[in-house]
Amino acid sequence: MKFGPLWALVLALTVAGVASAATLEQWRSRSIYQVLTDRFARSDISTTAKCNVTEGNYCGGTYQGIIKKLNYIQEMGFSAIWISPITLNIPEKTKFGYAWHGYWQQDLYKLNDHYGSAEDLKMLSRALHARGMYLMVDIVTNHNGWNGSADSVDYTRFRPFNDRKYYHDYCAIADYTDQVQVENCWLGDTTVPLPDLNTEDQNVRTMYGTWIKQLISNYSIDGLRLDTVKYVDRPFWASFQRAANIFATGEVLSSNITFACSYQAELGSVLNYPAYYAIIDFLNSTSGTTAPLLHAAQTFKTSCKDTSVLTTFTENHDLPRFASQTKDMALAKNALALTLLWDGIPIVYAGQEHHYSGYADPANREATWLSGYSNKAELYTLTRTLNLVRSRALALSPSYATYNIWPIYNDTHTIAFRKGSSNAQIISVFTNVGSTNTNYAPWTLTLASGVTGWIPGTDVVEVLSCTKLTISPDGSLAVKMQKGLPKVYFSAAAAKADRRICNGAYTVSDAGDAAPSETRKSVATAGLRGKKKKAVAIAGIMAYHGLNT
Ligand SMILES: *[C@@H]1O[C@H](CO)[C@@H](O)[C@H](O)[C@H]1NC(C)=O
Ligand SMILES: *[C@@H]1O[C@H](CO)[C@@H](O)[C@H](O)[C@H]1NC(C)=O
Ligand SMILES: *[C@@H]1O[C@H](CO)[C@@H](O)[C@H](O)[C@H]1NC(C)=O
Ligand SMILES: *[C@@H]1O[C@H](CO)[C@@H](O)[C@H](O)[C@H]1NC(C)=O
Ligand SMILES: *[C@@H]1O[C@H](CO)[C@@H](O)[C@H](O)[C@H]1NC(C)=O
Ligand SMILES: *[C@@H]1O[C@H](CO)[C@@H](O)[C@H](O)[C@H]1NC(C)=O
Repeated sequence: MKFGPLWALVLALTVAGVASAATLEQWRSRSIYQVLTDRFARSDISTTAKCNVTEGNYCGGTYQGIIKKLNYIQEMGFSAIWISPITLNIPEKTKFGYAWHGYWQQDLYKLNDHYGSAEDLKMLSRALHARGMYLMVDIVTNHNGWNGSADSVDYTRFRPFNDRKYYHDYCAIADYTDQVQVENCWLGDTTVPLPDLNTEDQNVRTMYGTWIKQLISNYSIDGLRLDTVKYVDRPFWASFQRAANIFATGEVLSSNITFACSYQAELGSVLNYPAYYAIIDFLNSTSGTTAPLLHAAQTFKTSCKDTSVLTTFTENHDLPRFASQTKDMALAKNALALTLLWDGIPIVYAGQEHHYSGYADPANREATWLSGYSNKAELYTLTRTLNLVRSRALALSPSYATYNIWPIYNDTHTIAFRKGSSNAQIISVFTNVGSTNTNYAPWTLTLASGVTGWIPGTDVVEVLSCTKLTISPDGSLAVKMQKGLPKVYFSAAAAKADRRICNGAYTVSDAGDAAPSETRKSVATAGLRGKKKKAVAIAGIMAYHGLNT
């Protein structure tokens, strides 16, 4: 009887999860590419069409454009796309430009025809499904959009919520820490206020339920990204998730993992903002340490109902681009690798693969076509490799998804993780020292015997440099760090099964990589400078690294 309450809880969770369990399961192994529909690809697939982000105009991206660029997305390893809200928005130009982004809707039963017709959207959905890919649509339920003052709103312009009775009375949110205000007052400002739906009202819930069912069915939508989740009451989300009955990941903008994950009671998934903050804090080359990542890896798994379905990102259209904060390519690679290898479902925001550097909205909403869609870009190929390796790990062992990332090494600036059970595991090493920090000559860290899960003599591949090495006789793995780059190890046998990983060709590493004693010697002679040298000679590589913390 001691376990009675626990069993009741397990049962309750199981029953509550039944409705969307299958679809959560299907999304777990996906990898998502986020596009702003207006900014990703034009029907004429121009790579020169001007798009001035500060002017707030439609730049011409369409569903047909996305269809024409699906190879570009799929070859980067993505198996799903997230597109902008599809509904009709404020048609006129506001003080903040046009509603080209889709977050100011007015008529939920009409499409935003700048992106194309209903048939175009259905074609996009069919084209994705023909490739085995999923369609995720951005959904706004908190508000509509209005151009003019709050008291000038003409509710008859909206559909289906065409009467003031469907909305909360106007009030501006004054205190964003007060959840009552957050849920009941209006977002926006006095120029473009966002009339706030009374989602506590049963009629509003029913109307939203009817709408989302039709929308999912009309366009064969596979998943939803839910906007402004914490601005809407929780019971609404439970009813909306039940009606939608497909995977939905909610935007809960908070660094507090307990708070963000509490929404997993109503929704299957939330965007992993807490992981975003931990990753960005770690990669801050001024003040970053591994502490936030270590903390995240240790606590998220107990704070969340299911970390494997949270969605992981380091950029989106609301956040400063990573490269707006540092141009360092090595740090950008660490950011992308963490995005793709952290627990959960990765999301990469279009343009991240080209090291786009726009700061805040609207500068972070650059047209992807201006990159020329190069599939040779360093971050494009890195993303491709890591998506391939992750997919391979998932194919070998579905439990890769639910195996919580596990720290196996850390010092102040470097951290290593294991994710995945034996022979499907990925061992990843991240560092925030950057590519140019002269205090960090090449150095070697040792992953101790046992922590990688590989037995002595196992051949492994470092997939970012396509280097093959062997686990040493004592079971340890010596990781040669240089230029601030991340390292990602996968068993050679597993890597070989997909010839696209490193084109099936690996450089065999010099002795240094596999044998710590050799490495120590070569690093000591090759890399270290000046007064650090003596300390290293005495105390070894690990201590050398410690000196620079
Ligand atoms: C973009 O538009 C703004 C406002 O019209 C203008 O000041 C700026 O020079 C334009 N930028 C480019 C690159 O054309
Ligand atoms: C929309 O708002 C802008 C700026 O506030 C204003 O100049 C314009 O007249 C408005 N348009 C309509 C159609 O109300
Ligand atoms: C779905 O399609 C039906 C049939 O064309 C249409 O009546 C309905 O309005 C559509 N609903 C939505 C939300 O698009
Ligand atoms: C995080 O959120 C939880 C749940 O809402 C709350 O109890 C806790 O006080 C929050 N922690 C911080 C540091 O704000
Ligand atoms: C990095 O850390 C410094 C010092 O704490 C801080 O001033 C800066 O804002 C941080 N940068 C980012 C991008 O968070
Ligand atoms: C992180 O580093 C500290 C200090 O060296 C050590 O005590 C701890 O065991 C390390 N944690 C992991 C997971 O390696």
